[in-house]
Amino acid sequence: MADLDVLFDAARRVQAKAYAPYSRFKVGAALATADGDVFIGCNVENAAYPVGTCAEAGAIAAMIAAGAGPIASIVVIGDGEALVTPCGACRQRIREFATAGTPIHVAGPEGIRRSFTLDELLPHSFGPDNLADTTR
Ligand code: THU
Repeated sequence: MADLDVLFDAARRVQAKAYAPYSRFKVGAALATADGDVFIGCNVENAAYPVGTCAEAGAIAAMIAAGAGPIASIVVIGDGEALVTPCGACRQRIREFATAGTPIHVAGPEGIRRSFTLDELLPHSFGPDNLADTTR
């Protein structure tokens, strides 16, 4: 399992690479798998605004493309005073590849600000098990 400091540094480095010319709000995400692999992502905005993607989505896509997973922990970093908790859609994206107790660490430039479990951010969630009777 990757150290939290390693994950924070990875998130901070990729945050700098975010493409956010419209919101000017750069976000970085770094997730670790149980094997200790780390995957990173940043937000990538688009002139057609709704087409932009979140940092978490990029990190999850990289994890899946590498044939890795599930998510053991994730750090999301943004600037400003407010906590950069994952958006609703990203909570659901994380849900697909995590468990109720998976930690989601929310960071600012100075370090980790707060840590939540997935279940705290997305209680009573809908996931793969809900489809178990119909698709498996
Ligand atoms: N953003 C993320 O990348 N992750 C989140 O969880 C919250 C929001 C991005 C999307 C958009 O590019 C910018 O932050 C402002 O909403």
